[in-house]
Amino acid sequence: MDLWLAPGFLENVYETFLPLTTNSKPLRLALAPLKKGTLKMGRKVDSNKGLKISRRVQNLQEYSFSELREKKKKLLLSGKRIIDLGAGDPDLTPDPQLLASLGREIERQESHRHPPYDGLPQLKKKIADWYELRFGLKLDPEEDVLVTSGSKEGLSLSPLAFLEPGEEVLIPELAYPVYEAATIIAGGVPLKVSMREGDYLLDLSKVKVSEKTRLLYMNYPHNPTGAVTSLDFFSEVVEFARRNQLIILSDMAYSEITYDGYVAPSIMQVPEAKEQTLEFFSFSKTFSASGWRLGFVCGDRRLLRALKTIKDRISSGVFTPVQWAGVKALHSYPAPTKRAVKTYERRRDSLIAALTEAGWRLNVPLGTIFVWAKNPWGAAASEISEALLEEFSILTTPGVNFGEKGKEYVRFSLTASEEDIREAVERIKQFKYR
Ligand SMILES: Cc1ncc(COP(=O)(O)O)c(C=O)c1O
Repeated sequence: MDLWLAPGFLENVYETFLPLTTNSKPLRLALAPLKKGTLKMGRKVDSNKGLKISRRVQNLQEYSFSELREKKKKLLLSGKRIIDLGAGDPDLTPDPQLLASLGREIERQESHRHPPYDGLPQLKKKIADWYELRFGLKLDPEEDVLVTSGSKEGLSLSPLAFLEPGEEVLIPELAYPVYEAATIIAGGVPLKVSMREGDYLLDLSKVKVSEKTRLLYMNYPHNPTGAVTSLDFFSEVVEFARRNQLIILSDMAYSEITYDGYVAPSIMQVPEAKEQTLEFFSFSKTFSASGWRLGFVCGDRRLLRALKTIKDRISSGVFTPVQWAGVKALHSYPAPTKRAVKTYERRRDSLIAALTEAGWRLNVPLGTIFVWAKNPWGAAASEISEALLEEFSILTTPGVNFGEKGKEYVRFSLTASEEDIREAVERIKQFKYR
């Protein structure tokens, strides 16, 4: 156990957060007068050793998307024009009405003070209304909704709220990397859940649950594969989670970006799911506004209170003008989302046609902003992505970034302009690996 020093009077963040995440023990420092010799460290200092970086940081693999951004930056600096089908960051502009609302709110003096940590009451009310409209389920805006800084904040703080060090978290074998990182940060143990060939549903029959297993992350529509699910599958998940006393963390970041008439269900539509579920929503994709950092969590109020306790200690509320823009965005739903989906659909179709012509194997995605395709040469996806970037200036994400199972796959994001997608399509048709 590490010891750390804190002033006698202190901002409670130090003392609540540090022991939480580090299993360390605070030692209070007498404030004034701090006489020579008052502080007995009893530790030899090795000047060659330098300051310590935690094992936790060393255990976290380099965030694969930062690596991607770095690569792009270098190529841009060297003067290359890159077609970016890498990160899943919407290129579309939010609706002009929402931008106007942001501008107006920024002018107001109160906007620049601390917002309520768990969300503006007006936004929480609007979220509950939207949720009922969308899924036919009632939420109590004050008890069942928590506004977060993007869905990533809620997803990443959950293990701190629900896990003791050494306890296990079930994570899909292909997944948004934040689930695994958040588990490691909280001192938990990630356990991969295999996904069925073809439809990419979690293969619950193969999961080995122990007494230490606590959480199950899940994400449909699914990043990176674009797979979607049905309420029947969600019923199986709820039954499995109830039998094994697991908390379900259902990531719905892409719930509104769906195609060909498919409408994503909520796991909370399964009777009695709510009492062991948290669901995470995002404005980033639904309203093309990833820079706003606006999301929300809903679900069982006891679980939500635990998550809110952690969030209150670690971070604060989302910038007030952004929350008001969130109210407006939900009010305007579904028109701006439908427009964005139409655009992604056109891009999806031209990319799929080109990849199929070039021999790549893929399922037509019914959701998300990605096309997930297996390369025809049986080569490692990292090499294919490298070659696509170097020879054709197309940035993609190698499937292995989402898990070993993706090692022959490449994820193509649909977040580039029509013109760029058209150009990428022509280049992809010509691309041959070795
Ligand atoms: C599956 C998934 N969940 C959550 C997020 C986080 O979204 P945000 O924090 O912008 O709401 C992303 C972002 O790419 C994602 O792909």
